[in-house]
Amino acid sequence: MSKSASVGKPHAAPGAGVIARMASPAAPAPRASGAPADGDLTIGALVLELAGTLGSATAEETRREARDIVATVADAPRLWPATHAAGVADRDVVARARTAAERRRRGMPFAYAVGRAAFRHLMLEVDERVLIPRPETEMLVDLVLSATGGGAGLAIDVGTGSGAIALALATEGRFERVVGTDVSADALVVAAANARRVAGPGTAPTEFLLGAYPAPVRGLRARAIVSNPPYISYAEASALPSSVRAWEPPVALLAGEDGLATTAAIVEQSAAILEPGGVLALEVDCRRAGDCAAIVARDARYAGVVVRQDLTGRDRFVTATRSNRS
Ligand SMILES: C[S@@+](CC[C@H](N)C(=O)[O-])C[C@H]1O[C@@H](n2cnc3c(N)ncnc32)[C@H](O)[C@@H]1O
Repeated sequence: MSKSASVGKPHAAPGAGVIARMASPAAPAPRASGAPADGDLTIGALVLELAGTLGSATAEETRREARDIVATVADAPRLWPATHAAGVADRDVVARARTAAERRRRGMPFAYAVGRAAFRHLMLEVDERVLIPRPETEMLVDLVLSATGGGAGLAIDVGTGSGAIALALATEGRFERVVGTDVSADALVVAAANARRVAGPGTAPTEFLLGAYPAPVRGLRARAIVSNPPYISYAEASALPSSVRAWEPPVALLAGEDGLATTAAIVEQSAAILEPGGVLALEVDCRRAGDCAAIVARDARYAGVVVRQDLTGRDRFVTATRSNRS
C-alpha cells in the first residue's frame, strides 16, 4: 500500500428501478429582469429587507449573505446585486429570495435555503432529500478522470445523492455511459432534475438506478466505480455540526457501528463489477483512511492501493485498481 500527497455498453440490471435517463436540455433558469414587482422594489432595497430578515439590515455580514441569496436565486454572479442595486427586482426573484431568507432565519443551511449548490463547473439543485455536495468531493472526480485517462467505458457512482459526481464525470469525462445509484428514491428525484439541467451535446448518457448497492448494477462491467458513501459511525453522529445533524439526511451520513459498513460492502461488491484494470475511488473519513485502505489491500482482487490527501493534507481518498485475480 502506498501513500500519495497529490491527490461495453451496460444494460440496466433486471429488477433495478430506472429513475431517470438524461433526455431533454436544461430549461433556462429564471433571471432577474426589469419587470416591476412589489411597487418597484429595487435590488438594493430587497437586499436590505432580506438582511433584516436575517438579523440586521445594517450588519455587513447579513447584507453580504442577503446579496448572496439574491445572486443565487437570480442565477447571477455574486457581485451582481451590488452592481445592480438600483435595478428593479424581478417578481420571481423577490419571492424566492424572501423564502430563502426566511429559511436561513430558521437555521437551514445556505444551499438548501436557496436550493442550489455549486459542484465543480455545475450548479446543482439541492434540497433536504440529498447531501449538500462538499468541495473536497470535487477532488474525487479529478482522481477518477486522471486514473481513467479522461474517462472511458462505464463509470458508476455509488450513492449518487444529488448526482454531483455522476454528472461531473458525464460532463467532463469521455465515458461512454455514467450510472448513478442510490438507495434513496427521494435523492434520485433530485439527481434526475439535475441531469435534465446539464443534459446537452458532449455529455455522456447518464441514468440513475434505485436500490442498495450492488443490486441495481449487478451484471454490468465498469471501468470506474466511484463513491462518497456514508461513513459516520452511530457514536460519532452526535458530534456532527448541528446544521448537518438537523438538516442532512441520515442515510447519507451514517454507516453502522464503526462507520465502515458501507465502504466495506462497496469494496467487496465492486470487484465483481470492475473490469480488470478498472478503477475504484472512494472518499473516506480521514480518521479511518488507513482502515479503509487495509480493507481494500486485504482483498487480492485489488492492486495499487493508494491513500490520497485533500487540499488540506488530510487522508481523504482511497484508490485502487482491479487486478486480474479472481
Ligand atoms: C455521503 S452521500 C453522497 C452523495 C453524493 N455522492 C455526494 O458526494 O454529494 C451518500 C449517499 O449514499 C446513499 N446510500 C447510502 N447507503 C447506500 C447503499 N447501500 N447503496 C446505495 N446508496 C446508498 C445515500 O442515500 C446518499 O445519497
